[in-house]
Amino acid sequence: MIKLAQVSVRRGSLAVLHDISTDIPQGKITAVVGPSGVGKSTLLATLNGLLRPYAGQISINGVGSLEKPASLQAFRRRTATVFQEHALIDRLTAMDNVLLGLADLRHPLSLLPWPPAMRYRAAKALEDVGLLHRCDVRAANLSGGERQRVGVARALIRKPRLLLGDEPFAAVDPALVQQMGDIIRQMVVRDGVTVILVMHQIDTALLLADKVIALAAGRIAFDGPPTGFNQQKQQQIFQSSGLLH
Ligand SMILES: Nc1ncnc2c1ncn2[C@@H]1O[C@H](COP(=O)(O)OP(=O)(O)OP(=O)(O)O)[C@@H](O)[C@H]1O
Ligand SMILES: [Mg+2]
Repeated sequence: MIKLAQVSVRRGSLAVLHDISTDIPQGKITAVVGPSGVGKSTLLATLNGLLRPYAGQISINGVGSLEKPASLQAFRRRTATVFQEHALIDRLTAMDNVLLGLADLRHPLSLLPWPPAMRYRAAKALEDVGLLHRCDVRAANLSGGERQRVGVARALIRKPRLLLGDEPFAAVDPALVQQMGDIIRQMVVRDGVTVILVMHQIDTALLLADKVIALAAGRIAFDGPPTGFNQQKQQQIFQSSGLLH
């Protein structure tokens, strides 16, 4: 379980998240929703240690407080993130981008080809996201949805204990969203992986998640099971931004 206690986070001089307190259950899927610019990506960056809160604390079962460098390092080894902007290297193939998910397992100066066992794992991860047939195509020549799926495969190949996804399904068509959702659910059920997904498709979030955290104006506006996040609550949260879903 990840525990956030009165966490507040700034981006530059802007206070983005205020006084966030919640628990992220282990071995479950938590969806983070809310209007654009509310701080969802900021919350994810705080959870994977890229941003540090200026107030409050994050602690993780078995690892301790993220403020300690050794805890942060141990935590990061078990974590994989699917970034909102995919963060792929354009000149590398889909396969080589996925293999970068394992880069911290190799010597940083290693010039040797990737071992077959790792290439097999990368092929398997690409197959899971329906992209095995595009494995030799450079990232620069992939569509937006394909790039996004390479980003997901690069996270899956790490076999993480904690999977963080920033709108990992945003540009992916519905049949594939279902397939990728099934794969993530399988990791949760089979391996007990903890998953936190920022999602803008509320319907998909409600189907996939065990818990929903909705943010409004940088604060928690809803925290509970998807069944409790009804139309009225959704409207309250999204109406201020003029965006409904
Ligand atoms: N690097 C940065 N420096 C300064 N401010 C930033 C930075 N990144 C984001 N912000 C600001 O922080 C606020 C929250 O941004 P964040 O990216 O967390 O929102 P979001 O909920 O993920 O939005 P979206 O749904 O559009 O992805 C916004 O007002 C944004 O302009
Ligand atoms: Mg975002």
